[in-house]
Amino acid sequence: MRKLLLAVAAAALVLAPAVGQAQTPIVIKFSHVVANDTPKGKGALKFKELAEKYTDGKVKVEVYPNSTLYKDKEEIEALQLGSVQMLAPSTAKFAPLGVKEFEALDLPWLFKDDQTYANAMKGTVGKWLFQKLEAKGITGLAYWDNGFHMVSSNRPLIKPTDFQGLKFRISGSKVADQYFRLVGSIPQIMAFSEVYQALQTGVVDGCENTASNYLTQKFYEVQKDITVSYHAHLQYAVIVNSKFWSGLPPDIRTQLDKAMADATDYTNQIAHQENEDALVAIKKTGKTNLHYLTDADRKAWQEAMQPTYKWAKGRVGQEVLDLVAKELDVKMN
Ligand code: LMR
Repeated sequence: MRKLLLAVAAAALVLAPAVGQAQTPIVIKFSHVVANDTPKGKGALKFKELAEKYTDGKVKVEVYPNSTLYKDKEEIEALQLGSVQMLAPSTAKFAPLGVKEFEALDLPWLFKDDQTYANAMKGTVGKWLFQKLEAKGITGLAYWDNGFHMVSSNRPLIKPTDFQGLKFRISGSKVADQYFRLVGSIPQIMAFSEVYQALQTGVVDGCENTASNYLTQKFYEVQKDITVSYHAHLQYAVIVNSKFWSGLPPDIRTQLDKAMADATDYTNQIAHQENEDALVAIKKTGKTNLHYLTDADRKAWQEAMQPTYKWAKGRVGQEVLDLVAKELDVKMN
């Protein structure tokens, strides 16, 4: 009997830590502002699936899409405070932190295609930009893709002069502010969750975004004309609270790094097609007119917006522009 009791006690000791761990997984709250059915939404769910699998359930990832936890600016503050552990904001949203250099990525017609973007961010410039966040208590883990912006209003935007006098919602980048001003429109920063209503009520006349966001936020319902201009790129930085991340047990962090690397490959692989499919779906609704630019139209837009490059030097600094130029093997002026 005594032997049996001892055996039971020993087994309980062996089991105890495992049971304890199973009961109290490390929770990662991952907040974002878009729908689940978008490249970022799917990427977040893929990370959840892989993180929980690779850590054998020692980590639980709670994904909060569609600004259910926080809106644009608030979510970055919440990350710094540790109320949420992981985000994937568009890089246009770092300016309120005093980190302006990311806005170099918003320059018009900077990236040739999605692959060029993804490759560039794996290089020096991607790492250099992440270092800028460290002083803010934020660690950058990966760059995710969401393709290229279209632009819309309740009138066709074909020539640069068509923008004259229209109010456009922008997400935060002063570079976007600049290229909209150069074509005579009035840009206004607004949280993503407020855009539909602002378009509907006429607080703003138009906006720019990717097809997947137009579709899932139903912007096409309240914009008569969308131009498939692909004039600028929408990219995300997946970020974590540095203190939280560095405080994780190293073996867990290794598994999470692996989950993030795999989720990043997945997201960047689907982004292009997701947006193509979204564009087809928008067309099918019949609720908006899609317009495409001729080569001559595009050239006119490029010429009108070109001074953004020179202006950007004063905003983001020469260093990041040089790094981007080197990475992309282009001239930046
Ligand atoms: C926006 O505010 O337009 C974008 O940042 C939304 C997004 O895709 O995160």
